[in-house]
Amino acid sequence: MKVPWNDYGGKLSPLKLTVFIALFLPASWTAIAFVTGNLGPRPLNEAIHQQGLWTIRLILIALAITPLKAILLWQRLILVRRMVGVAAFAYIMLHFTLYCADQGFNPLTVASEIVKRIYLTIGFTALVGLTALAATSTDAMVRRMGRKWQTLHRLIYLICLLGLIHYSMQSKLEQWEPVIADGIFVWLMGYRLLAAKFAVRGRLPLVWVAALGVAATVLTALGEAVYFVIAFAGRVTFTGALALNFSLRTGVRPAVIVFAFSLIVLAAGLLRARLAPPPQGRSRGPARYA
Ligand code: HEM
Repeated sequence: MKVPWNDYGGKLSPLKLTVFIALFLPASWTAIAFVTGNLGPRPLNEAIHQQGLWTIRLILIALAITPLKAILLWQRLILVRRMVGVAAFAYIMLHFTLYCADQGFNPLTVASEIVKRIYLTIGFTALVGLTALAATSTDAMVRRMGRKWQTLHRLIYLICLLGLIHYSMQSKLEQWEPVIADGIFVWLMGYRLLAAKFAVRGRLPLVWVAALGVAATVLTALGEAVYFVIAFAGRVTFTGALALNFSLRTGVRPAVIVFAFSLIVLAAGLLRARLAPPPQGRSRGPARYA
């Protein structure tokens, strides 16, 4: 029988089993907190928020698998990509179902809210996209669609972008975590652009990974500074906002987190390359960057 924790050869994969169990944890945590009355004064709203957060996190994790597989020379990581993607779909359906519950399962209210509120229209478009990807994620569909499958599944970049816009719009003034997610998205997309041009045997040289980390950090800092100038018109200057990245006066800024993320990935890549140097050679070729 085909079970999610077996590899292609039908043998139990500890990696797949661990990830499979881990993917249930956030929703289980919310369910337990809900039942035991530990979700605060507006439990349904809090549950909607938590499932939304996990949807965007899982999409980003799914997008991180291809770069990490190459940087860490860990081919088997690809075994869990589909599982993480399908889990993102499960979480978005949960997010949406809880939202419908909050609206008393009244289809007219749900539909009119989605049409009226732009952040819901954007979220719903992303949900439709994720549904299309989940529906075509079986082995049979991959075989049947051939090259069209890859083209369709590149929609995940757009879906992630829409999810991030929805996230930022509903977060109003509190943009700390959305900006971190944006910075990591920039890194993930930057990796794909660079890998398509400069990968050697499907692996982006680590010097490019280092440059990418710096670029993603700078863009995150600039993006946040522009946001501060617009949102706090007259009270924050552009250079003042940038300077916050070098002090702890307003906590650790998103750009610092993005920098730490980039640094950890680079350090892991360097360590991995030291332990098992990749095969040498100049055969340049486009990386598999789906
Ligand atoms: C891929 C699609 C989507 C993603 C990635 C997503 C993600 C998120 C995230 C990250 C949050 C914020 C959580 C927080 O700040 O704690 C959120 C909030 C929310 N989302 Fe979504 N969402 C999506 C689609 C939808 C859809 C289709 C609906 C309903 C039609 C929806 C309704 C809401 C609502 C009502 C909130 C809370 C807003 C508030 O309390 O002001 N989302 N979503």
